[in-house]
Amino acid sequence: ARNVIIDCDPGIDDSLAILLALNSPELNVVGITTVCGNVPTHIGAENALKILALADRLDIPVFMGENRPLEVAYTSAQDTHGDDGLGNSQIPAVTKVHAAQDGVAFIERTLTEEPTTSILALGPLTNIAQVLQRDAHLFDQVDRFVLMGGNYRSHGNCSPVAEYNFWCDPDAAKLTFDLMPVPIEMVGLDVTRKIVLTPSILEYMRAINPEMGQFIAKITRFYFDFHWEYERVIGCVINDPLAVAAMIDPEILGGFDAYTTVVATDDVARGQSIVDDHDFWHRANNSHIMTDVDVNTFWRLFLSRVVGATDP
Ligand code: BDR
Ligand code: CA
Repeated sequence: ARNVIIDCDPGIDDSLAILLALNSPELNVVGITTVCGNVPTHIGAENALKILALADRLDIPVFMGENRPLEVAYTSAQDTHGDDGLGNSQIPAVTKVHAAQDGVAFIERTLTEEPTTSILALGPLTNIAQVLQRDAHLFDQVDRFVLMGGNYRSHGNCSPVAEYNFWCDPDAAKLTFDLMPVPIEMVGLDVTRKIVLTPSILEYMRAINPEMGQFIAKITRFYFDFHWEYERVIGCVINDPLAVAAMIDPEILGGFDAYTTVVATDDVARGQSIVDDHDFWHRANNSHIMTDVDVNTFWRLFLSRVVGATDP
């Protein structure tokens, strides 16, 4: 199995992503680090522990990373994910295990000891940028670096042009593209928007695995309402699990190599990902931009792994 650190901001879809990773034999989750994003770092860490408890995997350590973006003021996404980050679902807190401090140090230590560890970045890139600024060589041998963030042709989700993870800490996103020594596999809104958890998928999950189905229904209810209000979608887009699926099975997604950067200035273009698909700048490719997804294969993977469907 591939060793992987999940850096995230749980978050409803981050939680579903963690569940997919924990139930996939291809991945060995060596630790979870949290960053301020959907919710402040400590709330994200509490939620990561709740998910680990549900999956009976409290042996996996959780670390709290950065509390604020590098330069800009912090804006959470509690309007989308609920004040508790899990759709105000009142899931009880884990009290017997605590999150540790210093997620950035954990990433540094892990990459020093196990340099090929892969990284799944599911939130703003603040922790990752901190490690890169201290020593970008730590990532030289990273097997794969997959992130959920950005958008290529698709519109933004928190401004006309920007996706939330890049927008929340645009400086960190830019630094990540500037400094990362391995190709960044970008799973952006172009592909994640196609992953809609519909009421019928939810019903199916409840029917075959009442405990897990009920849990997922509980944490997504708020998200469902939000999507109807803002996007007129019945159901909800779940972004982060698709990045996990990409780590499990690269065949699920297709894309192209390009040089990509992110707008870090705090103006109307803040957080916009700019993909030089016509090679205007003659810069070396630093990213693989996902544009196609096999939606059925994704759902077959998700349903078999997370709710134990035998023939989805
Ligand atoms: C991303 O932002 C967050 O709200 C989600 O968890 C996902 O990582 C989508 O733009
Ligand atoms: Ca996230």
